[in-house]
Amino acid sequence: MEQYSLPFHRPSFSALERQYLQEALEEGYWGGGRWIERLEKALQHIYEREVIVVSSGTSALHLALSLLIDEKDTEVIVPTWTFTATASEVVHAGGIPVLADVNESLHISPETVESLISSRTRGIIVVHYAGVAAPMAELLQLCRKYNLWLIEDACHAVPAYYGGQLCGTFGEMATLSFHATKPIAAGQGGAVLLSNPDLAERARILRRNGLQRSSEMPWLYEVKALGWNYMLSDFQAAVGLAQVARLEENWKERRRLALLYDDMLRGIPELTPYPVSSPETAAWHLYPVFWSGATAEKKNRLLQYLHRKGFTLNVHYKPLHLHPAYRPYIHKGQTFPTADRAYEEIFSLPLWVGMTEGQISALGETLKAGLAEIA
Ligand SMILES: Cc1ncc(COP(=O)(O)O)c(C=O)c1O
Repeated sequence: MEQYSLPFHRPSFSALERQYLQEALEEGYWGGGRWIERLEKALQHIYEREVIVVSSGTSALHLALSLLIDEKDTEVIVPTWTFTATASEVVHAGGIPVLADVNESLHISPETVESLISSRTRGIIVVHYAGVAAPMAELLQLCRKYNLWLIEDACHAVPAYYGGQLCGTFGEMATLSFHATKPIAAGQGGAVLLSNPDLAERARILRRNGLQRSSEMPWLYEVKALGWNYMLSDFQAAVGLAQVARLEENWKERRRLALLYDDMLRGIPELTPYPVSSPETAAWHLYPVFWSGATAEKKNRLLQYLHRKGFTLNVHYKPLHLHPAYRPYIHKGQTFPTADRAYEEIFSLPLWVGMTEGQISALGETLKAGLAEIA
């Protein structure tokens, strides 16, 4: 059999990324010129919201939370099943993250959140895990009931839909990431999406060190607020813009590859794909699978076996409550049974544009051999 290996991720680029990158290079501004504006316009066209492009998904969360948290000790409920930035940025914006367990599809839901709401709770961050929409109708209803704001961490959900509506358009704000592994990959980058023009203006000022320039005399500026430098370079924005142009094409290809994985997994009864009820509404950012009855230790041995054979897999996620930095945020007696069970069993298969069918079937054979050796 031909030898295959499969990295967890490789970004895909075309002549368009090359062309835009070269234009940005030759234009000679490099740091925050028209490429950010062009990228914002392209995203505005998709989301029909104000878009503030920033340096990462993490800085997008920090900026969004800094606009919303205005009292000390504000509590914000976040899923334990997410990347650390969803919760760490609550702390950096002056709040306290309250970790919530997730439902069977690894999203927060009213059942996992409502008992955590206190008099200090002001908002919720929902993560559309793996690019599948969380139960938005129920969560929005809960927010209305308790007068809470909602941020959608839509870093995986580009594009994903709930009831025909695009994820990233439901909450007061939403955040995107343009990290190299994401559906719009710019190397690094991110965006805040919102609908309030005053908050958008404030976000633009904060993202560039709190400066406001005079339009007649652009060499003059005033420091309006103590902000950060969350600007993206022109090179990243140029690559991001080309990726937006190719978003639909790349999304369809990830979906095609995911359906090949579905077929492949029908021959491996130990593994069950993460449930996606309608493939055309998911972003297919990740392809997680569950090894039923496994333990984290057994799973790690399987991933080690695959790694030795040249197949790099990943785990999304080790839940936040299992990391030392989040110990202070766990309430006395709080448990996370669904996240704990999922962590024992879950791992993610590579899913990126440019992967071949040969790599998928070779991964299938190697998984079978690994499972037979380790089980
Ligand atoms: C759910 C989620 N939120 C936030 C982030 C942070 O994005 P970035 O890596 O661009 O800072 C990530 C990135 O991995 C993510 O997966």
